[in-house]
Amino acid sequence: KRPPASVLFIFGGSGDLNYRKLTPALYNLFLDDYMPEKFEIAGIGRSAYTIDAYHEHLKDGITKFSRRKGEENGHWDNFSKNVTYLQMDAEDQTAYSVITDLVKAKEAEWGVHPNVIFYLAVAPQLVPAIATKLGSLNLCSDKACTRIVIEKPFGHDLQSAHDLNTLLGRMFSEEQIYRIDHYLGKETVQNIIALRFANALFEPVWNRNFIDHIQITASETVGLEGRGGYYENSGALRDMVQNHILQILCMVAMEAPVSFDANEIRNKKVDVLNAIRPFAKEKVHENAVRGQYSKGWREGKPVPGYREEKGVNPESATDTYAAVKFFIDNWRWQGVPIYVRTGKHLHQKATNITLQFRPAPHFAFPAESGETWRPNRLTISIQPEMDIRLRFQAKRPGQSMMLEPVEMVFNFDAQFGDQHAPEAYETLLLDVMEGDATLFMRADQVEAAWKVVMPILETWENRPPVDFPNYAPDSWGPEEADAMIARDNHSWINLPK
Ligand code: BG6
Repeated sequence: KRPPASVLFIFGGSGDLNYRKLTPALYNLFLDDYMPEKFEIAGIGRSAYTIDAYHEHLKDGITKFSRRKGEENGHWDNFSKNVTYLQMDAEDQTAYSVITDLVKAKEAEWGVHPNVIFYLAVAPQLVPAIATKLGSLNLCSDKACTRIVIEKPFGHDLQSAHDLNTLLGRMFSEEQIYRIDHYLGKETVQNIIALRFANALFEPVWNRNFIDHIQITASETVGLEGRGGYYENSGALRDMVQNHILQILCMVAMEAPVSFDANEIRNKKVDVLNAIRPFAKEKVHENAVRGQYSKGWREGKPVPGYREEKGVNPESATDTYAAVKFFIDNWRWQGVPIYVRTGKHLHQKATNITLQFRPAPHFAFPAESGETWRPNRLTISIQPEMDIRLRFQAKRPGQSMMLEPVEMVFNFDAQFGDQHAPEAYETLLLDVMEGDATLFMRADQVEAAWKVVMPILETWENRPPVDFPNYAPDSWGPEEADAMIARDNHSWINLPK
């Protein structure tokens, strides 16, 4: 079933997100017959484009970034005739009449009142002004048919996120607001729920009685990719931990939902965030480590240090790496440490989650057979590898009882390789058109996540780092992060490339 007739306005229509992600995702949905029978996409931007030049620009993005590249012929023309460009100054209220006019024209042409979606892929400082102007347009009497999509970052801290929620709440009801966290659209992230709650096998051991600790790694090999101006005011904790990593943590730690109702699932996630043990400020240095990359090398090529990047203060105190140890104070997770880490210019691009189980309660084997004994582990690889692996002990073939850790692997590509896995933005855009907010952040969810990281942010801001830069590109981050986890007799789990 296709979503109802829709007009989609993309603010930031000439920008990078639309070029790399949004239009390629919409195009893939079109090829897969998921776009509404009747749709119109209007890119909005300040730059001057003729319609042909705009189409060329978007087509170029598709040939580079769509997972269906190479399939443009024929289809592109059919798709692009529903794509238009509106040059406008989004800060000028009178300019917004083009929006009303386009909606009216489509309504007259299609004979139905379309859903109207505003996607704000713009710098965060522009969001309040645009949202306010959109709020006063009064496009339709039924509120549910108008939706606004807000990209991250959602606020800079708890207060600004709260202020933005209040402002949006004046013009839109919560059901109309779709706050994006693109990690929630990833297939492998959604599969966490399937693994946990569609199987009877895992859930009974998914708790403090069996799990020793959890690790979540989201390491990147890229640096700033030209986003120095944004990143310098953000940092790894804000850019990755407050949103993507905490959302993954919620999926791993939440209680079983009763249904797939959007609010039911989001309630269960908020419960996790609210149960995360607040950091006492004087303990932050024991439980959180920050880092910044120096200049160095990757595969024989020089990498500039963070402080030398464009848009970055030469004495910057911004974290490009963050590692944090969390506890969740509830019955399921009491006493189980959850170590998370993320960073730019690390050794490997990998997002994965590992649950390490407690040791077997009694070791009855001959002592020498246990030399290679290792605890059980369940590892969920989100990207670029997409698999789930369970490590357990096996008897090595031979006359003596020697144990060896082995793995049972489920690999998405091997299993489902011939089926197209949608990209995160495809899933999320389709959900917006269908009006399903399950994978979007509710106001209280965003604020609860900010609340978790605020003591760390405030402590870091008040105590500038003394040792920056403190890790080399192509490494696994600062030594202090190894020391933090070693204090608990653990070490970071780095999967082979
Ligand atoms: C974005 C961050 O939200 O996520 C980027 O702003 C980061 O800094 C990106 O690189 C990572 O996303 P993905 O999907 O490539 O893991």
